Amino acid sequence: MAKKDRINFSKIGAIAAATGSAVGLGNIWRFPYLLGESGGGAFLLVYILCVIFLGLPVMISEFSIGRMAQANAAGSFRTLAPKGKWWLVGLMGVICSFIILGFYVVVSGWTLEYIAQSIGNKFSHVSPAQLNQSFTNFSTDTFRPIGWMILFTAFTCAIVLAGVKDGIEKSTKFMMPLLFLIIIILGIRSITLPNGTEGLKFLFKTDFGKINSEVVLSAMGQAFFSLSLGMGCMITYGSYMNKHNNLSSTALQVTILDTLVAILASIAIFPAVFSFGIDPAQGPELVFITLPHIFSQMQGSAIWSTLFFILLALASLTSTISLLEVIVAYMNEELHISRAKAAIGSSVGVIILGVMASFSLGIWKEFTIFGLGFFDLFDALTSKVLMPVGGIFISLFVGWKIDKQKIYKELSSNGKYKIPFLNVFLLITRYLAPLAILLILLNQFGLTKWLGF
Ligand code: PHE
Repeated sequence: MAKKDRINFSKIGAIAAATGSAVGLGNIWRFPYLLGESGGGAFLLVYILCVIFLGLPVMISEFSIGRMAQANAAGSFRTLAPKGKWWLVGLMGVICSFIILGFYVVVSGWTLEYIAQSIGNKFSHVSPAQLNQSFTNFSTDTFRPIGWMILFTAFTCAIVLAGVKDGIEKSTKFMMPLLFLIIIILGIRSITLPNGTEGLKFLFKTDFGKINSEVVLSAMGQAFFSLSLGMGCMITYGSYMNKHNNLSSTALQVTILDTLVAILASIAIFPAVFSFGIDPAQGPELVFITLPHIFSQMQGSAIWSTLFFILLALASLTSTISLLEVIVAYMNEELHISRAKAAIGSSVGVIILGVMASFSLGIWKEFTIFGLGFFDLFDALTSKVLMPVGGIFISLFVGWKIDKQKIYKELSSNGKYKIPFLNVFLLITRYLAPLAILLILLNQFGLTKWLGF
């Protein structure tokens, strides 16, 4: 176990790295389309409740586990509970990272295609219908998306190979503010489109009738996905955090920034959706159709869209690095495989999954498991099953398995910070979070009815 020479993030570096992991396609691509499919404001409300009551406590738990143990996801559980089978929770996280990467790199590859198209000024004077058609042609193509996907995976692998600290700390500190700025500008442009306020109504009007078990599960899954929780990523990053870092305030800041980016992205997208008469329940292609269309209405459209897709690609990159790091730290510390071999070997595996996911949108469209192609299967399996289940075990571990005094010491950095919420935190990790997640899962899979509730 690499205890002595473990990398230490600076205070800002820790926020930048964790926010870099959290902010990604989940916020700008996935959140808006899920919201569109699930009826707008109702989804937003349930999402925010999940973030506050489940996401934040699980993030604090993960940071504490990692920093206490100073090890990778599985190694952390093994260090803190050497006798039990808890390390399996960490191993599940490693597997989960792998599956997430399998579809994530496909969409990341799409962002590269859109950078190329933006530079070629392909979006000016094009109707939404044409944008839609060209997206479909591209994403169902056999080779083109795969080329970009392989390139993106290679970038990820190169950065992980070079070591995380310099790459992530430096790049995220610079990129995240830029991303905010661009999304705010786009939001303003989008709201001021004719009919744009309809989109804001859709976003903020809560129709309670639209909340059902499917919406709740999808909001909870999105909260875990967007905050990179339940699969050891924040354990791994927590293990790189400095002993003086105030873990709960770092977690709070990351959570707020992540949620803000998701809301800003929706503010940019939905007014445009209503203004151009696009179906809000469009699905994964939403961002790739609406945003190019807003750009096409702006002065200097090629510059804006190039900048936006570059930032989207970079935001994805800081997430894919964190996903690959979970696997590489595990292989390196637990299986004693060199970082180089681990990074290259796992990237090859990711590319194979990526090919399966990409083909499932085109030539393998007919091939489904439980009614889902590989792309959707990887997505649903991770965000709707593995991450929430991981969240249950992580909460239980911190709530019941680790001594309360040890948790206090970790969260307060040995008494340096006041932790007035300790009892509330333990109440949530012991009871509320595990039970709520379990109920949401059971409810969605129809088991509560079956059990006679
Ligand atoms: N949180 C990232 C996003 O929103 C995805 C991710 C999930 C990254 C899990 C790391 C771990 O895009």
